[in-house]
Amino acid sequence: MSGVKTDTAAPWALALAAETLRVGGLVAFPTETVYGLGADATDDRAVARIFEAKGRPRFNPLIVHVPTLETARTLGLLSPLAVRLAEAFWPGPLTLVVPRAQDCPVSLLATAGLDTLALRVPGHPLARALLSETGRPVAAPSANPSGRVSPTTALHVREGLGDAVDIVLDGGPCTVGVESTVVAVFDDQAALLRPGGIPREALEPITGALSLAGGPSGKPSSPGQLASHYAPKARVRLNALSAGPSESVLAFGPDPIPGGGPVLNLSERGDLGEAAAALFGSLRALDDAGAAGIAVMPIPSHGLGEAINDRLRRAAAPDRETSS
Ligand code: TXA
Ligand code: MG
Repeated sequence: MSGVKTDTAAPWALALAAETLRVGGLVAFPTETVYGLGADATDDRAVARIFEAKGRPRFNPLIVHVPTLETARTLGLLSPLAVRLAEAFWPGPLTLVVPRAQDCPVSLLATAGLDTLALRVPGHPLARALLSETGRPVAAPSANPSGRVSPTTALHVREGLGDAVDIVLDGGPCTVGVESTVVAVFDDQAALLRPGGIPREALEPITGALSLAGGPSGKPSSPGQLASHYAPKARVRLNALSAGPSESVLAFGPDPIPGGGPVLNLSERGDLGEAAAALFGSLRALDDAGAAGIAVMPIPSHGLGEAINDRLRRAAAPDRETSS
């Protein structure tokens, strides 16, 4: 959509956004991973509006965003291992699933009735300013219609959600580009629920060897982890070494294969961080260009490559059942 207006990050916009959250409105805001669709996590009605706006087929548990580790500790029970992870990676793209604290004020709808809670302290300065100014925990899934590619710019948010969101804070393009890594921590046990912006290799010195709970064939361990999720309209084909006449190409590295349609390179120099940041925007652009299929070149699976390949597998899954 062209000519869609997005809102600014001016100081008055921040104050208005915080007030909008406090009275039960919806505010989309930038994080370093993707844009989030936020509501006051303690307000059932406001949280319900998130599900309405996204058209979520069911109530998946949402990540609760807070400005500091101290605030997180008032909501969830962080074991010493959880605290070590938080101290190492917050603020940043790590979400910790921990038991709810007693008297935790977070809406049961936000946590889908579970006795656990997903907590994150985002690193984006505008997100942190909004969370401090609001003074409430903010529940926020990615700010896209359910089953669609996550938004990495304010314009993506307006295009996807239109007037269902009251304010969009524009903080520019997201620098990480894939969602946070989700790790469940109970006492001294940790499990990787979703690969994301913090690579597994960075966590393991603290957690010990992490296995991905669930896995592609297994039952989803993180309730939002249905096989098909980040679905562009075009059919996505992975590990492509050549492209057909009706396929555009999502390339990686210095030797892109030729395509029947446009070729977009996630990172010419083969940098996985650069590729993650470009991933969702490139899928959108190829989809908008109208190709019937997208051939995706092989991408290494170490570091951020694990999260990139996870999102691409979901985009390629034939079953278009959708979640977050
Ligand atoms: O980077 C991100 O994490 C973004 C930004 C906006 O912070 N948010 C995001 O939220 O990706 P969402 O709702 O799209 O994904 C939340 C993930 C889902 O896989 C969900 O199942 C999992 O976190 N999750 C939330 N609460 C959980 C819980 N109590 N137990 C297990 N998994 C949980
Ligand atoms: Mg999402």
